Amino acid sequence: MTVGVCYFPEHWPRERWETDADRMVEAGIEYVRMAEFSWAVVEPRPGEFDFEWLDAAVGILGERGVKVVLCTPTATPPKWLVDEHPEILQADFDGTPRGFGSRRHYCFNSARYREETERLVSRMVDRYADSPHVVGWQIDNEFGCHGTIRCYCDDCAAAFRGWLRDRYDGIDDLNERWGTTFWSQRYPDFGAVDPPRPTPTDHHPAHLLDYYRFASDSAVTYNRLQARLVREANDDWFVAHNFMGDFETLDAHAVSDDLDLVSWDSYPTGFPQDRRAADATPDELRAGDPDQIGMNHDLYRGTKAAPFWVMEQQPGDVNWPPYAPQPAEGAVRLWAHHATAHGADAILYFRWRRCLEGQEQYHAGLRKADGSADRGYEEVRRVAAELPSLAPVDAPVALLHDYENWWALSAQPHSPDFDYWAHARTYYRALRERGVQVDVVHPSADLGGYAAAVAPALHIVDDDLAARLRRYVESGGELLLTMRSGFKDPWNKLRSEPAPGPLAPLVGATVDRHESLPDSLAPTVRYRGESYPARAWAEWLAPAGREADGDAGTVDGDEDRRADGDDGAVVLGAYENGVASGRPAITRNERGDGAATYVGTWPGGGLAAALADDLLARAEVERAGRFPRGVRAAERDGLVWITNFTSSPVEVAVPDGATWVVGDSAVGAFDVGVVEATLGDVSASID
Ligand code: GAL
Ligand code: ZN
Repeated sequence: MTVGVCYFPEHWPRERWETDADRMVEAGIEYVRMAEFSWAVVEPRPGEFDFEWLDAAVGILGERGVKVVLCTPTATPPKWLVDEHPEILQADFDGTPRGFGSRRHYCFNSARYREETERLVSRMVDRYADSPHVVGWQIDNEFGCHGTIRCYCDDCAAAFRGWLRDRYDGIDDLNERWGTTFWSQRYPDFGAVDPPRPTPTDHHPAHLLDYYRFASDSAVTYNRLQARLVREANDDWFVAHNFMGDFETLDAHAVSDDLDLVSWDSYPTGFPQDRRAADATPDELRAGDPDQIGMNHDLYRGTKAAPFWVMEQQPGDVNWPPYAPQPAEGAVRLWAHHATAHGADAILYFRWRRCLEGQEQYHAGLRKADGSADRGYEEVRRVAAELPSLAPVDAPVALLHDYENWWALSAQPHSPDFDYWAHARTYYRALRERGVQVDVVHPSADLGGYAAAVAPALHIVDDDLAARLRRYVESGGELLLTMRSGFKDPWNKLRSEPAPGPLAPLVGATVDRHESLPDSLAPTVRYRGESYPARAWAEWLAPAGREADGDAGTVDGDEDRRADGDDGAVVLGAYENGVASGRPAITRNERGDGAATYVGTWPGGGLAAALADDLLARAEVERAGRFPRGVRAAERDGLVWITNFTSSPVEVAVPDGATWVVGDSAVGAFDVGVVEATLGDVSASID
């Protein structure tokens, strides 16, 4: 397997660099990433550059056969630049400048900052254009980290007005599309539109959605500027960016159109603590939630065909989550295997050595603060020697994911419990419990190669998307659509026709009413003869051609009705409690060679599993038996990984004579086994 590390030579005395490089080579490290926060070192005073240190570091690594990934250090504009041009700073929602003293304080829309970027980046890429050791560039670092995609400064206000002018056919068009008659919000001209700054209560949802689009586009444009400079210097280099986990505000699909290599930063013990509603279990605090990590792998892998990397992998305990337990014995190796099974071609650990200074002193490295090996180092050394390079993942199922839906639903969640990403993860988990590989793709992706597709909360739908999904189903696709789909037009305005709007003919049913529900009113749903808990939301579905207020009748007899020539959807599930009791909750409609299933509630794990099983069975997707929570299988290039993110040993059943490439059928706590097999032959149980 290909491993690498993020290294900050500028934090350590020069005499140490050769030793560091030797220790890296001993561990099997093939890539080193450097310089992402080095602006103040490469340009200590305006126009005065010092690349000598970086030349030396690149040389020391290069001489040992290590390939270097350099970064543009634009995430950290230095003090002299901020003092000379304070207008480059971002502003908070309430106008407070985001000042100097941490990082990511610059605004994407500052014309001055774009000039400064161009000046610095051109200089840097020219310097290394002929280096035999530098193989590619990471642009900036984690666009949007610390809530910095959405800036509210005056430059952003001006740029937003320009963005709106390009998008609308005059101010009357904007007023009409947004629906600004409500609360007298009509705008007299584009110059009168501001960013959504503080107001007494909620902002207009159309205003919010456009601001979110604009803010994401601003980062996309800024990245494109840098990508061009890198390619102009040497077009053999790859251009990469490191995205983040469960990250909402930046459209990674859009950014990746300008990249050659997509990567992200994976911190498994932090994510269940700071970006997931359910409490982290003791095992998750030690190794993370494989589906939370996996869904990010599959999203970033899905943004581009290849290659896909983990640019920063947690090496040990980290500084930023509420708590920082030591990872389980074996977790550092387990994460690399799990990433590889999900398609990663390289895994770089962040960071080489625990730092003595600055904000991240409490962050582990592969080496301790004194330079000796920490726990992660030995695990990396082991994993680096484990597997050869592999063919890409070939996923049979697509999960459609769209940031615009996420933003629109965040602007109006209509329930304190609703969360777009968590809702999507319910279905992702159900698919992954059966070991099925999933590509998380944008709805505009070509779905032709997928036997089944799941489209959670496809909130904004236009006629074009509806037509493409209809063609997918008619030509044999099995499509699962879920609650809140087709409610809105592209301007975040409610459609006059009932949801799912343009998808209604495909679904063969409409949403008659909907309700948002606290846990005390949580729905239960009867599906194929069993009763299941659901949560947060209930849509009362009305199959076409049947009375909206009619109840579902005997759900299990509904297939017969369809056979009688009724052309509406068949009811597969109905609510069992509350005001909705007896009304349809889940429908299925055959169209051409495929079918569209619609689920009008947020299923619990049991119902999601049953829905996924039925979907996969109808689509004839090969799958394993249902794995216990925390144990996951994934197939890549003729190998099946069993990754155990739990503290209980797992016994894996495979056909007699199957060859284990890593480990064997007894997969210990936080361990991994890799076997030559196909998914359908594998099952696992916890002892
Ligand atoms: C990442 C970031 C790194 C470092 C790391 C700490 O989000 O890219 O620079 O801060 O987190 O875990
Ligand atoms: Zn700004």
